[in-house]
Amino acid sequence: MATDATSQVSTSRHSMRRATPGFEGEPGSGSPGQARLSPARLGQIVSEIVAAEQSWRPIVHFSAERRWYRRRVLADDHEIWLLSWLPGQHTGFHDHGAARGAFAVAQGELRETLAQPGRNRVRNRCASTGSVTTFGSRHLHDVSNAAAARAVSVHAYSPPLTAMRRYAMTASGLALTGTERAELDW
Ligand SMILES: [Fe+2]
Repeated sequence: MATDATSQVSTSRHSMRRATPGFEGEPGSGSPGQARLSPARLGQIVSEIVAAEQSWRPIVHFSAERRWYRRRVLADDHEIWLLSWLPGQHTGFHDHGAARGAFAVAQGELRETLAQPGRNRVRNRCASTGSVTTFGSRHLHDVSNAAAARAVSVHAYSPPLTAMRRYAMTASGLALTGTERAELDW
């Protein structure tokens, strides 16, 4: 499907808005029977949640022991997670199985490192407060807090994540190292 192409990754900046739905009110999950939401719709959802600051700020927690994350919504066609990032915390290279996704930065800034299996080349880009990044199911990245301040982000996936493949950069390029499965590994 064309919208799943990695080349369709886009980043856009959304202004912070108030009086919009938070986690509890979300989402308008599309028409009945719709199995997957578009990256654009996921971007809209995370943007609205970030703008409803009262929906995430009282909940978010920071942990030096391990990166903190909490699923806030699980629906048939998507799920939504709240994540926090202390300086230096990062995900490592991973994909999202068959899921499309989007994330919005609620506080601080994140660095996204893009890579492709079998290749050494990486590309970095910055996601600052209020920015929304959307992506298709072929997307592969490492997300990190490379800044000196704490960061918070809201992530949405459709369909809900069932597996994520993990990768490591080697001398011969990015290599698959394993698969993590929902309910078992996170
Ligand atoms: Fe990811």
